[in-house]
Amino acid sequence: MKNIILTGDRPTGRLHIGHYVGSLKQRVELQNTEYEKFFIMIADAQALTDNYGNPSKVRNHIIEVMLDYLSVGLDPKKVTFFIQSEVKALPEITAYYMNLVTLNRLLRNPTVKSEIKLRGFDHEDKGIPVGFANYPISQAADITAFKATIVPVGEDQLPMIEQTREIVKSFNHVYEKEVLMMPEPLLSENEVCLRLPGTDGNNKMSKSLGNCIYLSDDSETLKTKIKGMYTDPTHVKVSDPGHVEGNIVFTYLDAFSTEADFKKFLPDYKNLDELKEHYRRGGLGDMKIKQFLFNIMEELLIPIREKRKYYEAHLSEVFEMLKKGTEEANGYADKTLLEIKEAMGIDYFTNASFFDEQLKKYE
Ligand code: TRP
Repeated sequence: MKNIILTGDRPTGRLHIGHYVGSLKQRVELQNTEYEKFFIMIADAQALTDNYGNPSKVRNHIIEVMLDYLSVGLDPKKVTFFIQSEVKALPEITAYYMNLVTLNRLLRNPTVKSEIKLRGFDHEDKGIPVGFANYPISQAADITAFKATIVPVGEDQLPMIEQTREIVKSFNHVYEKEVLMMPEPLLSENEVCLRLPGTDGNNKMSKSLGNCIYLSDDSETLKTKIKGMYTDPTHVKVSDPGHVEGNIVFTYLDAFSTEADFKKFLPDYKNLDELKEHYRRGGLGDMKIKQFLFNIMEELLIPIREKRKYYEAHLSEVFEMLKKGTEEANGYADKTLLEIKEAMGIDYFTNASFFDEQLKKYE
């Protein structure tokens, strides 16, 4: 049996290099492996659970995120892209799963817990919207509606997969049928890539903190952002010994540089270990390591910008892709919904057995 791969993103901003190393790069590699189907969902309904007051933000980023996907080389011939809210079976499946999960279990979900704090939902005047608390169940519907067996995600999504696995187990047990498939998470291998810090060094790269390098940033913007990057405050003069740990330029080099980059842009050093060693000893200036990082990032982003330009000039192609992908996704999800309803015995009109049973009762 071949795998069905499914993953998704909330359309609340353009994608940045944190998304790239954390997941997009892996998806591009994954699209060239063997599988039955590879879905990528634009999770607009989920984005609305904490952006309910700002629907235009979500609306405006659907095509932006699609352009970012295509620009990194995700291939519409290999991947099916679709919009979550346009798949009608998903909220219905969500509703049935809601009977299988307790409120306490939802509020114990570590991701939900930290987001409640982050959004200030735990303050007296706000309160937790039901739709927000429920989103792990909705995400379980996203995953199971397509019978996904592999879900490539970042670390922060592991509790969602765990929740989904509990629902799968519970559903198949309660309704005594192996209708749902058990999904496995697939994490990015490189540890620094799981949570790339922002250019300010303090936090995860995040658009609300203004510390992102976007895939669509032009060359000048990239240069300015790298120039302004946090390094080591104790490394004042070039000759001073420097720290590599917590030095964001080095963190990025950990994530992005290869030995080939050294050959090409910094042949005085064989690899990153040698460069780090020199920085620690003293005598290596920040400008030099920043220029090196710029060269690497620029080489990465040039083809991405070019592809984006192409699709920006062919928006109707992008729109059609999304529309066709969504139709296809509806086919898969509708089929699973029927199986779910059948297992639950609520398939009154789609299965003759319901009417036959009633006839027998009154024979
Ligand atoms: N929760 C994911 C995020 O915030 C987006 C998402 C929604 C998702 N549905 C999904 C990811 C299904 C994987 C599978 O990035």
